[in-house]
Amino acid sequence: MKPLRVGILGAGGIAARHAAAIAAHPEAATLVACCGRDPDKAAAFAAQHGGRAYADRERMLDEAALDILIVALPPFAHSDEVESAARRGIHLLLEKPIALDGDHADRMVAAAEAAGITTQVGFMGRFGTAVERWTELADAGATGRPGLYSARFHCNALHAPWWRERQKSGGQMVEQLIHMIDLARYFLGDPATVYARTATFFHRGVERYDSDDLSAMLLGYDDGRAGLKLHRVPPPGACAHGGADGPACGSPPLGCSGLVRDDPAQPAVPDQGLRPLGPDPARRRAQGGKRWSGPSGHAGPQERR
Ligand SMILES: NC(=O)c1ccc[n+]([C@@H]2O[C@H](COP(=O)([O-])OP(=O)(O)OC[C@H]3O[C@@H](n4cnc5c(N)ncnc54)[C@H](O)[C@@H]3O)[C@@H](O)[C@H]2O)c1
Repeated sequence: MKPLRVGILGAGGIAARHAAAIAAHPEAATLVACCGRDPDKAAAFAAQHGGRAYADRERMLDEAALDILIVALPPFAHSDEVESAARRGIHLLLEKPIALDGDHADRMVAAAEAAGITTQVGFMGRFGTAVERWTELADAGATGRPGLYSARFHCNALHAPWWRERQKSGGQMVEQLIHMIDLARYFLGDPATVYARTATFFHRGVERYDSDDLSAMLLGYDDGRAGLKLHRVPPPGACAHGGADGPACGSPPLGCSGLVRDDPAQPAVPDQGLRPLGPDPARRRAQGGKRWSGPSGHAGPQERR
């Protein structure tokens, strides 16, 4: 099969990570185009990563004969790019969050379904080694049903200006905790109840920062299962992960763990119902000791215990 022709919309941080992932798999994909608002930035991106630079999205979609478009725009900058690509039969990888309100997201889904294209959102947690291993075991009937899901996410990039503004980013739950919410839905399905709290606690004095920086969420399921998520942004200067203008981060940005139940007839958490679910050692060795190789470079979800 010929390598798929890929274009990227947006020429910022995550776009560069996707470009690097494409470059690492030349047999599968080639970056043939990128599009940014600023022609100079787009040209610099293309010079570094390959492909032709565009400043006009429609022109890129018309001319570049794309198989796949990666949408790497900031949350507030999404408009009708999904409809536009779908009309042309171009498949999509969309960075999260795909939209800042449900109606907009529904329009995207409807356009993709009507066109019959394949879509994927940048929820790379699903492809972490521990999660893939869990899925293999669960599909083989080797696990019980997940009963408790617990996740943490720590991050303090300060990052691009839009990241600090709730109206542009959507806030912490939509912009970052969404990874943990996605995994909860992946493992447990949609909850029946959600209780959530958010606050702006650590960044009260930080210029132009009006997003929340601390959140917690408790998910409830009708059959008694539960999910707990915590998201904390540490104080400015204390910790930052991956941001253009922040210091390095010591804490893992993603972590999740859970309990599974083998036999519903057994007491809720019997000793024999809890199984170590780490990635298999051979596979981890084959990955050079890394547990995660997703596009963001984040560490993956931690092993279940
Ligand atoms: N899946 C992940 O782990 C992951 C990691 C990082 C970022 N992301 C997501 O990727 C998206 C982009 O994040 P990023 O870190 O690359 O952001 P960024 O600010 O570094 O880059 C955004 C790019 O979009 C361009 N752009 C196009 N239209 C714009 C407009 N109207 N306003 C502002 N910029 C515009 C900017 O010029 C810039 O090149 C976000 O939704 C973010 O949540 C996902």
